[in-house]
Amino acid sequence: MIDVCVAGSTGSIGTQTLDVIDTDPDRYRVSSLTAGSSWEAVAAQALKYRPDTVVLASDANLHQLRDALPQSIAVVVGEAALAEAVAAADVTINGIVGFAGLPATLACLEAGKRLGLANKESLIAAGPVVQRARRTPGAELVPVDSEHAAIHQSLRSNHDPVRIKRLQITASGGPFRGKSADELAEVTVAAALAHPTWAMGPKITIDSSTLMNKGLEVIEAVELFGAPSTMDTELGFDDIDVVVHPQSIVHSMATFSDGSTIAQLSNPNMRGPIGYALAYPDRLAAPYGEIDWSQAQTLTFEPPDRAAFPCLDLAFAAGRIGGTAPAWLSAANEVAVDAFLEERIRWNEIPSIVEAVLTTHDGGMGETLESVLEGDSIARIRAAEALASRPSSTQGLT
Ligand SMILES: NC(=O)c1ccc[n+]([C@@H]2O[C@H](COP(=O)([O-])OP(=O)(O)OC[C@H]3O[C@@H](n4cnc5c(N)ncnc54)[C@H](OP(=O)(O)O)[C@@H]3O)[C@@H](O)[C@H]2O)c1
Repeated sequence: MIDVCVAGSTGSIGTQTLDVIDTDPDRYRVSSLTAGSSWEAVAAQALKYRPDTVVLASDANLHQLRDALPQSIAVVVGEAALAEAVAAADVTINGIVGFAGLPATLACLEAGKRLGLANKESLIAAGPVVQRARRTPGAELVPVDSEHAAIHQSLRSNHDPVRIKRLQITASGGPFRGKSADELAEVTVAAALAHPTWAMGPKITIDSSTLMNKGLEVIEAVELFGAPSTMDTELGFDDIDVVVHPQSIVHSMATFSDGSTIAQLSNPNMRGPIGYALAYPDRLAAPYGEIDWSQAQTLTFEPPDRAAFPCLDLAFAAGRIGGTAPAWLSAANEVAVDAFLEERIRWNEIPSIVEAVLTTHDGGMGETLESVLEGDSIARIRAAEALASRPSSTQGLT
């Protein structure tokens, strides 16, 4: 029996992880569930899965949750409790959103356990710290992001890292592919939340609409498979292509020294990559997103419109600067996305806020957890200042 901690169990990744576990209850047991503040949702999950522990991020609803659950389920709060629950499991699927996912990432790797990582922000913001934790004996990071799960699978065909030449990360293009700058100035929150191929949580859906998600994934790919990683390749930012593929069938690719490109294909369904991270190096028995190859379909590929979607190049720039620059990018983006979701700024102001913060990056190296945490909070302050000082800040959006 494999004990699984589902971190962020009430979210899109978390609930889909529970769906996957449902398909093989003889193999997987939910040992812990963690949530931010949705105590009623996590209580319902706990009554169904009977984990050892439920962890909340804040104690606001601790008493209600304790009252709702039998005493055999420990209800705890905070980072230390989270780390304990993660360390006790064999595998953690980290589906917490944003920088808040960092403690679960570190706790899992430092305990020498398998991390199924959906929470890309922790790897992006704290690259050098996470890389050190990855070297803990027994620690293993299997990506859940569909693009990186696809590359992980493509690279399994190869034994010599030196033969990996380039990686191609595919992007659906989001809901605004092909729109002009004038059209993009007017997009609404509802339109940005209507992703054409994937149903996800609000933050990543907005990131997909700006292509920041793709930029974050480029940094994630360099951390996972490139020079700073445990894979011993030479891959860097110049070796990664972003390819718009609106059908979201080819989830990403790797090209090798002999000119061959190997890709992973399936219909879009996050349960596939979640199951891959749970079962690796085996495979799930249940099929997710299997393609019916008897039906003809067309797959298309095109370059991204980097002028209309400047977040992509901002992420490349932050990745090339290195140190805490990706942490600053990611933190500024979280602040800007929250402001957009609350209708305090327009969609096309998100990149301006991120750029304003990134241009003030202080050259921090991010070698320690303290410096990453400090970088994250400075960037959030700078982003709040950039929000307050924008020309339209007093004019509202109507
Ligand atoms: N959704 C996808 O298909 C997808 C695909 C690839 C990668 N990812 C990545 O996976 C991560 C999760 O995405 P999602 O779409 O599943 O997000 P989501 O639906 O918004 O769920 C986020 C989860 O994190 C919890 N959470 C929020 N703030 C927290 C905090 N401060 N401390 C602890 N837990 C907290 C939430 O709990 P509450 O319910 O209590 O707020 C919820 O369980 C993101 O990093 C995203 O980029 C997602």
